[in-house]
Amino acid sequence: MNVLTTPEVIDTIAGLRARLAGTGARAGERPRVVLVPTMGALHAGHLALVRRARELGDIVVVSIFVNPLQFGAGEDLASYPRTLEADVAALATVGADLVFAPTGQVMYPHGPSSTRVTAGPVGTLYEGAARPGHFDGMLTVVSKLINIVGPDVVVFGQKDAQQVFLVEAMLADLDFRPVIEVVPIVREESGLALSSRNRNLAEEQRAAARALSAGLAAAASVAGRGVAAALQAAHAFIDAQPLVKLDYLVVVDPQTFLPVAADHLGPARMLVAALVGSTRLIDNAALDLN
Ligand code: PAF
Repeated sequence: MNVLTTPEVIDTIAGLRARLAGTGARAGERPRVVLVPTMGALHAGHLALVRRARELGDIVVVSIFVNPLQFGAGEDLASYPRTLEADVAALATVGADLVFAPTGQVMYPHGPSSTRVTAGPVGTLYEGAARPGHFDGMLTVVSKLINIVGPDVVVFGQKDAQQVFLVEAMLADLDFRPVIEVVPIVREESGLALSSRNRNLAEEQRAAARALSAGLAAAASVAGRGVAAALQAAHAFIDAQPLVKLDYLVVVDPQTFLPVAADHLGPARMLVAALVGSTRLIDNAALDLN
């Protein structure tokens, strides 16, 4: 379908399935369906996912659902931005075909489902340590969305590196049909990774938050000198910012997502999370430790 055609918004599971069946998308030799799962409040990072989806398939479905299962007590579920009208307008500029925007009642008609997909040990580390149950809730809704839409490809952003690792593991471990496509992080000119939560940052906080991407870039530039040098380079930027309260800074093995040994050689990924004011920000970068 054409860019600048307003996508059709569907809010029921039956409605979406019927619409996809009408395109032939759920039967036999059929168009290639690409799903981009989101929680809305779309920014240029999300639009990059949809542009990639457009290249990969015939029918691009963007889901917009603020999933209560992946928010813990005291997190920002109630205040998470809900901007459906603006999101649909933005999606029209990048060629999304269908927007699936169910209510909580549609997704969880009997309240939070008692059946969960569990993320396993890696789901309890890093973001999972700070947000217990987050990844189980995330994988549960991603499973539901895949079952509802029946896509050939699911598109995720590299910014949520642990999420990407866990979705890849789930797709493989549970023999889900779609393949995953991972799109690079989109950054502001300053280096700050785009996030729906950036809108909560005051100007001074936004400036301070740049220490995260600056630290990652510094780490990548000295990665040839080893893990300790990379960590030290990143700390130098992040620790210098009093407004940035570091939660974790860790170098992980991309195969296992476990912290690397001090003498690790080869590809790795540095993960960082911090609170800037009350806003939790995450970022990551590839490191070549050779
Ligand atoms: O990355 C997100 O926005 C969410 O975790 C996702 C994948 C849409 C599931 O709710």
